[in-house]
Amino acid sequence: MCGIVAYIGPKDATPFLLEGLARLEYRGYDSAGVAVAGRTGGIKVRKVKGRVADLAADVPARFKGTTGIGHTRWATHGVPSDANAHPHLDNAERIAVVHNGIIENADELRARLTADGAVFRSETDTEVLAHLVAAHAAEGGELEDAVRAALGKVVGTYGIAVLDARQPDRVVVARNGSPIVLGIGEKEMFVASDVSALVRYTRQVVHLEDGELATVRADGFRTFTEDARTTHRQPSTVDWEIDSYDTGGYDHFLLKEIHEQPGSVERTLSGRLDERFATAHLGGLDLDARELREIRRVKILGCGSAYYAGEMGAQLIEELARIPAHSEPASEFRYRNPVIEADTLYIAVSQSGETYDTLAAVQEVKRKGGRVLGVVNTVGSAIARECDGGIYLHAGPEISVASTKAFTSTVVAFALLALHFGRIHDLSPADGRRIVSALKALPGQIREVLAQSEEIAALAAEYADSTGMMFIGRVRGYPVAREGAQKLKEISYVHAEAYPASELKHGPLALISAELPTVALVPDDELLDKNLTTLGEIKARSGKVLAIAHRRPEARLADHCVLVPKSEPELDPLLLNIPLQLLAYHAAVALKRDVDKPRNLAKSVTVE
Ligand code: AGP
Repeated sequence: MCGIVAYIGPKDATPFLLEGLARLEYRGYDSAGVAVAGRTGGIKVRKVKGRVADLAADVPARFKGTTGIGHTRWATHGVPSDANAHPHLDNAERIAVVHNGIIENADELRARLTADGAVFRSETDTEVLAHLVAAHAAEGGELEDAVRAALGKVVGTYGIAVLDARQPDRVVVARNGSPIVLGIGEKEMFVASDVSALVRYTRQVVHLEDGELATVRADGFRTFTEDARTTHRQPSTVDWEIDSYDTGGYDHFLLKEIHEQPGSVERTLSGRLDERFATAHLGGLDLDARELREIRRVKILGCGSAYYAGEMGAQLIEELARIPAHSEPASEFRYRNPVIEADTLYIAVSQSGETYDTLAAVQEVKRKGGRVLGVVNTVGSAIARECDGGIYLHAGPEISVASTKAFTSTVVAFALLALHFGRIHDLSPADGRRIVSALKALPGQIREVLAQSEEIAALAAEYADSTGMMFIGRVRGYPVAREGAQKLKEISYVHAEAYPASELKHGPLALISAELPTVALVPDDELLDKNLTTLGEIKARSGKVLAIAHRRPEARLADHCVLVPKSEPELDPLLLNIPLQLLAYHAAVALKRDVDKPRNLAKSVTVE
């Protein structure tokens, strides 16, 4: 999704802007641009359809200024083109604007501005902001007042950075639904829509709140509300390692993050297991035992892989705590006027903490008086701040568009939550100990699966040739199948269907033939026999089967098998999922896909 960077200080802004934009590339984009201003010479702009590298090649050596803004665009209004790329200027070329989000009343504003003489040079909603701010700036006064007045006429979501040729000693930024982070340097200031663009320059950051603006100068910043009341914000320190933002010798971020999982799971568990009382400590929940006992239902909300991780979480909560739990796509929940119950605990799941649909779902629950916890990776993100408490994953930054380590850590966080709930309800100390030991064993068991990467690569090359793939699993295996199919689709573009194994005979068995292979989750649990029967039904129709299992099925039932170590049944899905990550990765590599930049997708979906 779109990215914003800005710089103001004694140095030339352009190197930071280009490097910052390159750091945001992983979020997905189709064009990029920069604008700089200095003490003389107005605003210079360069923007191109294509990569940040294309932009860098297009920027001449004389393109210098001590204040600058930059943008990577992910098209929403108008095709990817040089003209539609940001920054956008007003006709006098006094004001330059970069914008993430969507201006809902752009058509109406465009008509009004056109009637007043503005000439539009792009199809974007953003350009209205440049003309609007310029119209107010022309009345005289401070840039921040012109930006406030302009935003007062806007309906929609935005993170913006505004540059004024006549006030080049500042950048004005604003946030409403799309993140803006200020980075505090030594006599210089940085701005970005994501901390990954800043961490090489500073660890001291301020996350703007929705409805907040800031005037950023080289020597500091002032934050204020849309009605001009000053706000007081304390910087926080980013504690993620800089190395997390490099591929560190791996071919792709995705492969690196898959291999980081033993460590990221250890961090999710760190300090949270209580062996003495066979439970988990989760300080961020902010709910005491009595409040927890009053919860009658759990509703988990997230999008895409976060939703599937929520499905695994719901099963863990039902199994260990015997509290009815259900996961729903936040993108659907927010539009269906949901009934919010006082004794239901709502849990929002998000790696980025920025996903607009999930944020909107949280806001809908809170508006109706519900209590929402967050299971979030990004500290200080919008969803984390909106929730009443929660669990941070501590998985480290996830750069790959395809979520892997955050997915796994989310399920581990749910296991901790389910254990904590369970021990407050009816989970016995013996069962609590069983889960505690199984959680402790997970990092080592994940390493065992990762050691099979080469064998899985060979299988992936063989299976990637198919026009499609079926993923099946029963009960605990079904969310694993869904996540496996999602991963394959996202990065290899191979069509994949996920079905509960039990549903196959109610319809999709018609698809099974020698041309459509099936990836089957076959854990050694109470449903093993049922799963083996399903494999028999597939083989009877000449279907090719790749089993992910604890024990190798008979050769007549599966063509290939990847063995995973056995955990406790409730936690087996976590380990069954790891080979599917590797399968998707290696299939995408075999098909020569751009694994870290899958087509049409963005890392964080910050628009509706
Ligand atoms: C995961 O591989 C996907 N890229 C996507 O489904 C993602 O999980 C979803 O958009 C939610 O993102 P979030 O966790 O940052 O909210």
